[in-house]
Amino acid sequence: MKVRVILLAAGKGVRMRSRLPKLLHHLSGRPMILHSLESAERVTKEPPVIVVGHGAESIRETVGPRAEFVEQIEQLGTGHALLQTQRLLEDEADFVVVTNADLPLVTSDTLKKVLDKQKKNNGPFTILTLKQKEARGFGRVRRNISGEAIAIIEEAEASAQDLSIDELNVGVYCFRGDWLWPALKKIKPSPKKKEYYLTDLLEIAASEGEHIETTSLEDATEAIGINTREHLAEAEAVLRSRINQHWMLEGVTFIDPQTTYIDSGVTIGQDTVVWPNTMLLGTTSIGEDCIVGPNTVIRSSRVGNACRIEATVVELAIIENNVDIGPFAHLRKGAQLSDGVHVGNFGEIKNSTLAPGVKMGHFSYIGDATIGRNVNIGAGTITANYDGKKKNPTVIESDVFIGSDTMLVAPLHIGQGARTGAGAVVTKDVPAHTVVVGVPARAIRRLEEPD
Ligand code: UD1
Ligand code: MG
Repeated sequence: MKVRVILLAAGKGVRMRSRLPKLLHHLSGRPMILHSLESAERVTKEPPVIVVGHGAESIRETVGPRAEFVEQIEQLGTGHALLQTQRLLEDEADFVVVTNADLPLVTSDTLKKVLDKQKKNNGPFTILTLKQKEARGFGRVRRNISGEAIAIIEEAEASAQDLSIDELNVGVYCFRGDWLWPALKKIKPSPKKKEYYLTDLLEIAASEGEHIETTSLEDATEAIGINTREHLAEAEAVLRSRINQHWMLEGVTFIDPQTTYIDSGVTIGQDTVVWPNTMLLGTTSIGEDCIVGPNTVIRSSRVGNACRIEATVVELAIIENNVDIGPFAHLRKGAQLSDGVHVGNFGEIKNSTLAPGVKMGHFSYIGDATIGRNVNIGAGTITANYDGKKKNPTVIESDVFIGSDTMLVAPLHIGQGARTGAGAVVTKDVPAHTVVVGVPARAIRRLEEPD
């Protein structure tokens, strides 16, 4: 028995008041459409079908080859949107699960529940409903005297009496394919908005004496549909607490889940402790036994085990094990910190590799540099990597001691075991085991090489 899932995603999303298509607004770090897509993908092995229209190109680009696309050129309503898939699916699906793509919190379990209910139903379709006083602009489910669902009344078209109905249409349906396609053609434009409402299928089925099955949503948060930015913030809060709950069950401690923001693409290892006001974003992975935060932002970076990162911003960086950072450090794109590195307060590192054991305690900028093992970088050290035209590299070999307030004017090579005096402005390469001082720096003596 073939099942296909359709996401309706062509609407304008006028109520968002945005230049960005509604379904590309982010929730927990990724476009909303990808949340709905993920739930759809778990229902059946067949790829989901997405009806696109407004912002079609950017939605196609965001989703890529994970779905099939059908275009609705004019947005004439959800019924018209669904009709566009007929050519693709007419002989392709025994059951068609339809969900509004602006329902990013609906889980795959809920979609499967609607499908399972329909498989047992003799009538043509099943809808998902929710009993709730706060109607949020949803369609109301009208039942007849014997309790049969017979119509969905859209808010824009509803009478005062209909508005008081507290059973809502969530926007998830499962249809028998053979019934759906001819029925869709019977939908007429609505009286007020002149749209072809998918929800008119209830009246069509009821007038043919068909039984419409309903199933109710257990977790009301799943019905948070996104029509406005207020809804977006509500959905974000629900998703965040779902994500935090997941990681707590996996053995991660959050001192204050309320102020801990974890994107859905993030992973965190066992026994890591996350302190308040911390954001772990994008594709960040954090190892085991780390202490992260308070007041830390880590964006799409990899952190190993047993690291401590406090009050720091880390972006597109790689941090190995036992690394200690902060407070108040900034790691930028391409920073790579090997095992046991220490970065103290007010350090900035960009596009640089720090070998194991490097210590950089205070007030330094390291850019476009390669730094060898056990190098000590004194307070106030700066790599002057930019000459006004291009970025130049600095290479510091292992066991070098950079004195406080040293300017390293790149391109520059500092040989193994060399030392610079406090306040040196180093403009020329320094041979190994040599001490340089002054402005511009000059060699004053050679050091004994260790055995
Ligand atoms: C719709 C339902 C309403 C339900 C609510 C819950 C209809 C007529 N109404 O209302 O009963 O309570 O969802 O989520 O279906 N879309 C298209 N093409 C169009 C119009 C819309 O693809 O021409 C897509 C939108 O991108 C959106 C979805 O269909 O993802 C729903 O459209 P929207 O305008 O948000 O409908 P609601 O007013 O929320
Ligand atoms: Mg909607």
